[in-house]
Amino acid sequence: MSLNKDLIDKIINVTSKAAISCYRFIGKNQKKNADKAATDSMRNEINKLSINGKVVIGEGELDEAPMLYIGEKLGLGGNLNLDIAVDPLEGTNFVAKNLPGAISVIAISKKNNLFNAPESYMEKISYPSGIDQNAIDLDFSLKKNLSNLADSKNKKFESLKICVLDRPRHKKIIDELNTLGVQLKLISDGDVSGALLVTNNKYNVDLFLGIGGGPEGVLAACALDAFNCFFQGKFIFESDTDKLRANEMGIKEFDKKYKVGFELKDEITNIDLNKEVIALWFFKERSDSNSQPRINLKNKLITYFPNAFFLTKSKDIKIVEQKRKYIRRPMIQLDISAKTFDGIMERFK
Ligand code: FBP
Repeated sequence: MSLNKDLIDKIINVTSKAAISCYRFIGKNQKKNADKAATDSMRNEINKLSINGKVVIGEGELDEAPMLYIGEKLGLGGNLNLDIAVDPLEGTNFVAKNLPGAISVIAISKKNNLFNAPESYMEKISYPSGIDQNAIDLDFSLKKNLSNLADSKNKKFESLKICVLDRPRHKKIIDELNTLGVQLKLISDGDVSGALLVTNNKYNVDLFLGIGGGPEGVLAACALDAFNCFFQGKFIFESDTDKLRANEMGIKEFDKKYKVGFELKDEITNIDLNKEVIALWFFKERSDSNSQPRINLKNKLITYFPNAFFLTKSKDIKIVEQKRKYIRRPMIQLDISAKTFDGIMERFK
């Protein structure tokens, strides 16, 4: 089995069954039981698939979650090695209180391609496609982000709609948004779907921001990436124990900003530019990239296959056209900032 439509349909079916399994707990004020029903169902159903899966985001550690714990192996086995991130029931309060909005979520990828997120809070921001992805940044002031957003979307402040999870910790943000005169959409729970409201104009949300669960942030980022939208997240580690745990999971920089688009693993600082062929890197180009990259190989001009990017010092291979607008979704995991990348490109001119 490969990552094909058949498998995707089966995975969708897994989420449908998990959702249905909560039915008997709707309005019963039993968050935990509803969550357990969804989790049990999801685990049973994934275990029927011919995959070699590993949970990278789940219901917690083995000692606190007997099922769908981080590191748990799932599936019947085989050659298809997958990372699996799950939130069997996202919005437990919605089910407990008989409110709309609960969802069942899975993200899958080939092995080693999904981020292993700790159970810490995360500061998040998500924004739609079609605007310059550098216009919005977690490190900018709220006012600067909104004014860049308004410019990009050619909208007035008062017609911008911003979605925020309604929590006391967001009082300062909410007050500032009110002062700036934008429209607010406050949600009581469910910041995976909250973050996804920027994916389509029909939801009439221009920006989502605020602090919510870290694992939920990664799940939202996966979906936003599929919609060509943008996401940035920064973990909030409140204690040394949080940091220790994050460190064990491979997080070395505690205040790192994670972005959809440059979501990568190891910082590459020492690239040997003297090697004949330095590297062959694969990236997925944005669909709105304004030209097809072309290379000259032994005097033959080649428009190379989509989603590949060559970086080389070989005399035989020369990049002749590369009007890259954005780099997105690396197919192999390398950490290279846009600045480093541009610096390297400079040396090949
Ligand atoms: P649960 O489904 O686990 O209850 O999470 C719901 C949720 O609203 C998430 O969407 C969000 O990331 C998180 O809770 C926010 O946490 P808190 O309720 O502690 O502010």
